[in-house]
Amino acid sequence: MIVLRSVDTMRRACRAAQREGKALGLVPTMGALHEGHLSLVRRAMAECGAVAVSIFVNPTQFAAGEDFDVYPRVFEQDCALLEAEGVDLVFAPSVAAMYPAGSTETFVEVPEIGARLDGVSRPGHFRGVATVVAKLLNITGADRAYFGQKDAAQVAVLQAMVRDLNFATEMIVCPTVRDDSGLALSSRNRRLATEDREAALVLHRALDAANELLLAGETDAMALRGAMLATLADDQRIAVDYAEVVDAMTLQRLSDASGGALIAVAAKVGSTRLIDNVIAEAVPHESLA
Ligand code: PAJ
Repeated sequence: MIVLRSVDTMRRACRAAQREGKALGLVPTMGALHEGHLSLVRRAMAECGAVAVSIFVNPTQFAAGEDFDVYPRVFEQDCALLEAEGVDLVFAPSVAAMYPAGSTETFVEVPEIGARLDGVSRPGHFRGVATVVAKLLNITGADRAYFGQKDAAQVAVLQAMVRDLNFATEMIVCPTVRDDSGLALSSRNRRLATEDREAALVLHRALDAANELLLAGETDAMALRGAMLATLADDQRIAVDYAEVVDAMTLQRLSDASGGALIAVAAKVGSTRLIDNVIAEAVPHESLA
């Protein structure tokens, strides 16, 4: 496994792998790796001749006052995990290597989709995400890039970017990995105290409540949102950000989920912001009342 710190050396290493006729898979991350990240790495290893993982806590996707400074950074541990998976390249640039001028003159904006869901309470967040992922795709020239469904709004933003700007990279979306209690794995879970971890489970329960209602034949989005909000209200330690029923591609609110929907929640547990979602399939025509 080779660790690369500069844009130029990374670009050269990626080209060298592709010149050997290998398809290059890229897994972009901010480190503090867990089984969710590793599921992406394993899928990339199964599908690509060479796999690169980037580890970069990207300042342009954090607003002032967010958790950039305290975001977990455990580079040595991350490298040990990636080495064990057989990853070929790790790209771990400094902020100065990625943003030599301190920031960037050019941003990639997906203004409408990027202003929905997490974009409401985190203005500018998806602009930073789209910009850094565009840079990573340009540096690596990856044939495929792997993302987690856990960050459903991020997936919608990046799919729009890749489509609109004609990136040649194929986007692969992988299912959310959860722990035994149902909690979606997240690097930010490391910051949850034991009692906060208990409280965090209510996100998953809220999604279950909406899903059960949907399976029982209720497709009205207001009713589904109501069920989520009622479940979230059960726990006083939770500050709800959103509980939404939206189109998975556009993130626009739906009034009815019978054609399929992204059901998504975000909430703060103490100072830690957590998100989770499920995809509801279209309800078969014959089951509709
Ligand atoms: P990060 O939060 O480190 O996540 C890296 C990738 O792992 C993302 O595609 C995310 O959706 C996926 N992931 C995280 N938790 C997961 C889980 N429980 N199951 C499946 N996949 C999971 O997302 C980012 O970093 C950044 O915004 C990034 C895309 C790297 C741009 O800076």
